Amino acid sequence: MVTAQDVREAAAGLAGVTVRTPLRYVEPLGAYLKLENLQPVGAFKLRGAYTAIRRMPEQVRRNGVITYSSGNHGQAVAYAAQLVGVRAVVVMPETAPAVKVAGVKRWGGEVVLAGRTSEDRQRAAEQIAARERLAVVPPFDHPDIVAGQATVGLEIAEALPDARTVVVPVGGGGLIAGVVTGLAAGGSRATVWGVEPAGAPKLARSLETGRPVRLERTASIADGLITLTVGAIPFAHLAAQRDRLAGVALVDDDALLDAVQFLWRHAHVAIEPSGAATTAAVRSGAVRPVPPAVLIVSGGNVDPSLLRGRGRGGPGGPGGPGRVRSLGEARFWSPTTTSPWSAPSRGS
Ligand SMILES: Cc1ncc(COP(=O)(O)O)c(C=O)c1O
Repeated sequence: MVTAQDVREAAAGLAGVTVRTPLRYVEPLGAYLKLENLQPVGAFKLRGAYTAIRRMPEQVRRNGVITYSSGNHGQAVAYAAQLVGVRAVVVMPETAPAVKVAGVKRWGGEVVLAGRTSEDRQRAAEQIAARERLAVVPPFDHPDIVAGQATVGLEIAEALPDARTVVVPVGGGGLIAGVVTGLAAGGSRATVWGVEPAGAPKLARSLETGRPVRLERTASIADGLITLTVGAIPFAHLAAQRDRLAGVALVDDDALLDAVQFLWRHAHVAIEPSGAATTAAVRSGAVRPVPPAVLIVSGGNVDPSLLRGRGRGGPGGPGGPGRVRSLGEARFWSPTTTSPWSAPSRGS
């Protein structure tokens, strides 16, 4: 398990590499935004990727590193590998947004496109890693990744010691596991909400079952949040700190798109759907955070056409330009209504 000391060591290692991102209060939301879109690669992922690569023994990473990623972790690995001077290969989905493929290449990463699910990519990456003797940097299921992402929670604890609620988007769970660990390391008493797309409720289902559940299929415009399962290591961290977890809210694609456009108009930030999920949860009423509240805005690598509502609901879409429409359903899971931790979790 990642300890407070591990989190502080990760934070020290990230000095000069990642930005200590600001908290910006947004009046219409009644909450602070933790603006991780301001990181060098446009997402919090650099915290975990750099921490993992930095902690690898020299002989392990000498031939280079490889990862499988929907995009942001791939960009982070490419950037971190360039900093330490090793080769990076990134296996991305055939459906990866162009902005993310370009991002990986910008940092000198070599892109391989494979399949559509995270499991397709993981299989391809493991084969290439074995053939070319590359070190695998997993996107979420590794203690060094959790320790790196935990620095988000530590920074919140230090910047806003009286925070009561922190809202976190959930893909494979590295960020939320890190945030609960980092808040604890920083002495914060805030409780944490997870937010998932309605089409990818893997943490919600895993909490109901008491162990990581693998979904058959996931779908959402939030491409960073559609993994089929949460990692065993993140899940174990959440299980160990379950009192801190208020629940998991689900948001649909209309709410995500509304949040992207709301943040563009009202906070003047370009945020991708995965990064806007926490705003979507608050605007839809799926999460009613106790203030002071912090919404983690995890990434800004957005296809610009989404910002003003092109596609769904924008020019050419059913709602016309600049539509801010009512927010579809957002389902809600709360540990007070189910018994999510009945079975022991896997992993450690
Ligand atoms: C912008 C963004 N937010 C959130 C996440 C989810 O992070 P995790 O997989 O650690 O839960 C991702 C993952 O790719 C992401 O890219």
